[in-house]
Amino acid sequence: MEITNKFSFHGELSVPGDKSISHRGIMFGAISHGLTEITNFLQGADCLSTISCFQKLGITIENQGSTVLVHGKGLHGLSAPSQILNVGNSGTTARLISGILAGQTFESTLDGDASIRRRPMKRIFTPLLQMGADFQCWGKDSFPVSFVPADTGCAPFTVHGGHLNGLHYQSPVASAQVKSAVLLAGLYAENETTVTEPMLSRNHTELMLAGFGAELCTYGNTASIKPEPRLEGQKIHVPGDISSAAYFIALGLITPHSELLIQNVGINPTRNGILQVALSMGGNVTLVNQRTVSGEPVADILVKSSALHGVTVEGELIPTLIDEIPVIAVLAAFAEGTTIIRDAQELKVKESDRIAVVTENLKAMGGSATPTEDGMVIEGCHPLHGARIHTYQDHRIAMSFTIAGLNAKGETTLDDTNCVTISYPSFFEDILSLKDKEI
Ligand code: S3P
Repeated sequence: MEITNKFSFHGELSVPGDKSISHRGIMFGAISHGLTEITNFLQGADCLSTISCFQKLGITIENQGSTVLVHGKGLHGLSAPSQILNVGNSGTTARLISGILAGQTFESTLDGDASIRRRPMKRIFTPLLQMGADFQCWGKDSFPVSFVPADTGCAPFTVHGGHLNGLHYQSPVASAQVKSAVLLAGLYAENETTVTEPMLSRNHTELMLAGFGAELCTYGNTASIKPEPRLEGQKIHVPGDISSAAYFIALGLITPHSELLIQNVGINPTRNGILQVALSMGGNVTLVNQRTVSGEPVADILVKSSALHGVTVEGELIPTLIDEIPVIAVLAAFAEGTTIIRDAQELKVKESDRIAVVTENLKAMGGSATPTEDGMVIEGCHPLHGARIHTYQDHRIAMSFTIAGLNAKGETTLDDTNCVTISYPSFFEDILSLKDKEI
């Protein structure tokens, strides 16, 4: 597709199902009794990796398209995999499944793509080792022959599950993946397990696992779980992913003469920081038809072109928009004044180093962006021009810079567009469906 600034965008769309909720539906369904039916399941590559891993663990999963049926076997129904569990590009699969595997009596080996092999796993090994599981990382050079100790901290690694004890874990990072891994291991522990995080990260595990029958309670940034509940299969309707809606919020705001209605979007407060930032930048964003679906708050989001100004994004807001920072940086490039993003050092260990990659690509387009230790500083309103964008095979970089390119003078090309299949396979078709008049 030609990425230039010739068009305005109008109309309605529904973005695909939420990635975090789709993953959890498969995982929690697999360890529950009976059938779990998931509708509006995200058919993105990451969630397909989760399906494939649980199939290798002996779970029958029927993927019928937007509906997925999981024939759960209960907490102790998984069987030893005969092959390596390949998580592909998915950090969520790698980290959450490790919590479940830590409680099994068999051992399993996990691997993934080049990005996964660079991402830190020590953050889950530390609490799970304390609970009684064991991990061995495979040495990079000697792969697949010898093992090195777990403190290498990367995939591929082998999980030796076993007898677990409850733990009160003070997590050094606000990470839903770490929190979820510990809570899932807690299902198999001898006594109660508690996780406290420095700031509240997304709470889909707490909401959904309680819906399956887990004895889970939360207070502030702490969640506790009791072991050995009987989990029962559920019907889950997955709301649209606010992380995917974020590209269209940005498109509607920065493209002149545009108006978009994004339907059925999950607006869970632990995920909706993008809405708060868009509003505080002066964006014309309205929530309509607010309701609750499968325990999650949902709304339609109406967005109109707006004059934006720079803001500071920091502190407790960061975990609520961590995946949206690349597209917030694009918004900032079109806003009057300075935007400062801080407390976001986690960006360095996402699918790519998003501090380096976002600032590099904004600069390539003529923007003013300075990387910092824990974020970036962007001076807005430097007119952007088309450029060749290096995505580093990171889906969120490809989508964010498509939005930038649609508002830049001249043509923008992405060195890889395939990576959008990770979370949003129909991204380019959906953009084209909203293309309106030449402006
Ligand atoms: C996710 C948690 C976040 C997020 C990721 C999905 C989840 O990662 O960036 O895309 O589903 O739990 P961290 O837990 O590393 O912050």
